[in-house]
Amino acid sequence: MKLECAVGFLAQADGDVLIVERARGERGLPPPLGKLDAALNRVLTQALAEEGFEGKVGQTAHFHTLGRFSVKRIVLVGIGERSRLDLEAIRKAASAGARCSRELGAKTVVASLFGEGGKLSTRARAQAMAEGILLGSYAFTKYKNPGKNEKVIESVKVLVGDRRSLTLVRGGVQIGSILAEATNLARDLINEPANRVTASRLAEVAQDIARAGKLAVKIYEKAQCEAMGMGAFLGVNKGSQNPPKFIHMTYKPARRARRRVAVIGKGITFDSGGLDLKSADQMERMKDDMSGAAAVLGIMQALPRLKLPVEVHGLIAATDNMPSGSAYKPGDILRALNGKTIEVNNTDAEGRLTLADALAYANEKIKPDEIIDLATLTGACTIALGQLASGVMGNNPGLQDRVLRSAGEAGEKMWPLPLFEEYLDGLKSEVADLKNAGPRAGGAITAGLFLKEFAGTTPWLHLDIAGPAFTEKDLPYAPKGGTGTGVRTLLTYLMNISGRKS
Ligand code: BES
Ligand code: MN
Ligand code: ZN
Repeated sequence: MKLECAVGFLAQADGDVLIVERARGERGLPPPLGKLDAALNRVLTQALAEEGFEGKVGQTAHFHTLGRFSVKRIVLVGIGERSRLDLEAIRKAASAGARCSRELGAKTVVASLFGEGGKLSTRARAQAMAEGILLGSYAFTKYKNPGKNEKVIESVKVLVGDRRSLTLVRGGVQIGSILAEATNLARDLINEPANRVTASRLAEVAQDIARAGKLAVKIYEKAQCEAMGMGAFLGVNKGSQNPPKFIHMTYKPARRARRRVAVIGKGITFDSGGLDLKSADQMERMKDDMSGAAAVLGIMQALPRLKLPVEVHGLIAATDNMPSGSAYKPGDILRALNGKTIEVNNTDAEGRLTLADALAYANEKIKPDEIIDLATLTGACTIALGQLASGVMGNNPGLQDRVLRSAGEAGEKMWPLPLFEEYLDGLKSEVADLKNAGPRAGGAITAGLFLKEFAGTTPWLHLDIAGPAFTEKDLPYAPKGGTGTGVRTLLTYLMNISGRKS
């Protein structure tokens, strides 16, 4: 979809659909509709009342203009109470407007910039609109034989009233597009089935992204991982027919970097559970166990486009987790890159093993100022926080506060969980430094505590995205499937520490 902006009057807009906002509790209709309504003896006002259109966030109504305007149809979108308008409402409303236009078969769409005259900045509103439109109209259709009338919007033009705001709107739309496209890239990778997305495929995608964005990339093969001592990561790969890949991508700014950040994504391309096999029910969704890796790839794709003055290292220890005659077994003892030994008491607690080596690698080879990992790590986290929120744990309150604030700005739900050190008892082993799986109670926390053992003294933050990484139902701007959660929060965070206003 092409997204652009231009100066123009709504009444003169042309295209298949014009999207305009309507706040809750406001009288009358927005200008172009008001005229149409007058020409039609107030039929529209009546119809809206009859249909119960109140202007709730994301509510839509549409009208044919019957040749009275150059635009064919008008889609009215609710933005809720004007006094309470925030960026999340704009994202939801823009998404609803785009989805409604697509349903109507529109190819060319014009939209007015939502929230004019309120306290939100022009730039931020434009960014939120771009995000809502591009994220809301995402669809994963590549394996469907095309239906007769597959509906796709070709272009959306955001109309601005005056030339002065055009630069601001253009800037906002550009950042929103970069963030949304990075998120949609992550969604594509998550939605691809595990027979396509193997560790090798993730490595190829990393190389493609690196080439396009002029990033450095290093793929460590199995033998090199062995030589480095990544026994924890390689243990998980032992049952697999597919070779493991350890991916290290680097974005370096042209200017001196303000900070050096490592972002690690859990890259289990399929989690069968291994010999501690999952049930059919639990296994069904497990192609999404590389959602953290997908987010890292999205972030790395966006960075050269945003040109931020931070150095970012993207790390992925990629493999699937499969049972077989060669698979790692309960009771096996693995040695991680930092020398710690781990008794495997559950082969289904594989993510933390791969992350352990990635964390140790970051500490030993990169020595970044801070490390952030994203991982679909525990079912327990969804029990604690539900399907919509990520659990946040770490060893540095400042880093945690900054990322939580960025999550709020991005409209992604993240919530802190405590790393009580008493719970480390649950990971005590008789035969090794620690075991990989703790008791059922507090499962998200013991997973976090396990990772903490490998983060060393570097400020580190862990995002357990097991809940929001994948959605079984359509959300306001994420259709069923991979959501790309974490991409916008972390890009917003990186923009914030760069001093760049989003
Ligand atoms: N990938 C799963 C976690 C998961 C579960 C993500 C459900 C999304 C939805 C992870 O590897 C796993 O299997 N965790 C175990 C840990 C346990 C064995 C300590 C779990 O959560 O049951
Ligand atoms: Mn598992
Ligand atoms: Zn897993």
